[in-house]
Amino acid sequence: PLNTTLTAVRHFLRDDDLSPAEQAQVLDLAEAMKKDRYGHRPFAGPMTVAVLFDKHSTRTRISFAVGIAELGGHPLIIDAAGSQLGRGEPIEDTARVLERQVAAIVWRTFGQERVEAMASASSVPVVNALTDEFHPCQILADLLTVREHQGGTAGRTLTYLGDGANNMAHSYLLGGATAGMHVRIAAPAAHHPDPLILNRAAGIAATTGGSVTVLTDPAVAVAGTHVLATDTWVSMGQDGKDERVASLMPYQLNAEMLALAAPDAIVLHCLPAYRGMEITADVLDGPRSVVWDQAENRLHAQKALLQWLVTR
Ligand code: CP
Ligand code: NVA
Repeated sequence: PLNTTLTAVRHFLRDDDLSPAEQAQVLDLAEAMKKDRYGHRPFAGPMTVAVLFDKHSTRTRISFAVGIAELGGHPLIIDAAGSQLGRGEPIEDTARVLERQVAAIVWRTFGQERVEAMASASSVPVVNALTDEFHPCQILADLLTVREHQGGTAGRTLTYLGDGANNMAHSYLLGGATAGMHVRIAAPAAHHPDPLILNRAAGIAATTGGSVTVLTDPAVAVAGTHVLATDTWVSMGQDGKDERVASLMPYQLNAEMLALAAPDAIVLHCLPAYRGMEITADVLDGPRSVVWDQAENRLHAQKALLQWLVTR
């Protein structure tokens, strides 16, 4: 294994795998890397980072490939369907092959237990590039974007509207609480967050000065908020689109909702967006939207995360 230091290997499988101080370190490093884009080459050699996909991706695939190259490393992008993993080779055996050749393993897959199994068998860092339960790399990019447009994260309010039980909602709860934000999730009762994750986020918020709240009234949830966020109503691998659209339509991020937020509120969407469904075109493409900065920030946040995990 390449990671032969005495420090125990660290993985990034969910947002709370970084303490508040560690998350701040990674975001500080991301800001420094964004200012000096080609000046950080800790993976020169090059070290290889494997990036595996069990699901579709545009932003994650691009930002990891570009970022690993900018760190001086070599990105090895693997569509799992074309690998033996996709034919049922055990996750742990895949980890044993990879750990002797790569500096880190990045994986987008289905259940969280799959990235946990990979991490348990790997002596190199494993990074969650989206599971059914969490999307922690996205939240690092979102927090970087909030820093840039709102001057910081602590004490700011972030309201997420829509599917409150998906990966983005869960990661906003954990990652936002870690950053000291007041996170509000507005969703119908059938789409409320996993209570275990909500409780964990509340525990973190109690130590950072943040808070977490789940509401059913979207107008109450957006009142005075600094950050408005939403995500697709039908995540990859989910079905029941008709029920979801019918019950989530009152939570659409539209001009009416934006008007209730703080005057300088920003709009986030991890993308891909479905205009006319979870967000209207006028809001997504309007002056309060920072979604293209947000998409770019995947690059800077993940470069910082990889350097932090691999060279610590
Ligand atoms: N936001 C995000 O993860 O986008 P992709 O699915 O395109 O990677
Ligand atoms: N919740 C969405 C995010 C896509 C980046 C999904 O899992 O499909």
